[in-house]
Amino acid sequence: MQLTDTHCHLDYNKFDADREEVIQRANDAGLIRLLVPGLQHKSSKEAVTLAEKYPSVYAAVGFHPTDLEEFHQKNFDEVKALANHPKVVAIGEIGIDYYWVKEKEKQEFQREVLKQQLAFAKEVNKPVVIHMREENDAWFGEASVDLLNILEEWQKSLSGSLAEKPGVLHSFNGTLETAQKGLDLNFYIGITGPVTYKNADKKREIIAQLPLEKLLIETDSPFLSPVPVREKRNEPSYILHIADRIAEIHSKSPAEIAAITTQNAARLFAWGD
Ligand code: NI
Repeated sequence: MQLTDTHCHLDYNKFDADREEVIQRANDAGLIRLLVPGLQHKSSKEAVTLAEKYPSVYAAVGFHPTDLEEFHQKNFDEVKALANHPKVVAIGEIGIDYYWVKEKEKQEFQREVLKQQLAFAKEVNKPVVIHMREENDAWFGEASVDLLNILEEWQKSLSGSLAEKPGVLHSFNGTLETAQKGLDLNFYIGITGPVTYKNADKKREIIAQLPLEKLLIETDSPFLSPVPVREKRNEPSYILHIADRIAEIHSKSPAEIAAITTQNAARLFAWGD
């Protein structure tokens, strides 16, 4: 079985004691590629360092919407320089977060920074990894509306392969309508551990209606551990539990889901076979 984890924060200090073993366990579990997204300039640099050290690790670079305290030209330039690295396959994670950030002025700044990073992604012709979280973790609200407006305007300005494969809506937690709008803009949809939760029937109903060729599976390690390891620190090898659940939802075998999502990721991030 060949699996891909398109979102794991392996640079986090929660992995300092056993990072090597975590990556080894991932490789042993059949994970052929792992994508580590950046959260600001420092973690973007660490993601690239990990990608240089481990053949199966790739990096994304960017500023997360809740990590904008140090977003200014010098640090953005640092991230821009990293984007030329051959193992940097995307700009991310970038986006909108009205769960943690409630002040209107700061939300405005998030949108402004998102637009700047989208413009940069277009410039370097790399897809984007999009984070989106609503106030109170609602399924739909201002964050969805604002994000879709910004992504639509951006996607319509693209051409060629980036227009066809502009990015992924990471750890998707919206409505079917929002997913549909994302798909209409050619975005992929990232599925994380909550799909395995007991009370997630509504989420599973939505995922059942999404086309398999547009799904990616992600652990978001060290967060969002799936059932049955929900009490543990999450790590990429647990992605099997997410593949199992999607297999059940879409009446496929876990091996088929692994193969399809691995192909989807290869198509989006253009990292080989
Ligand atoms: Ni993340």
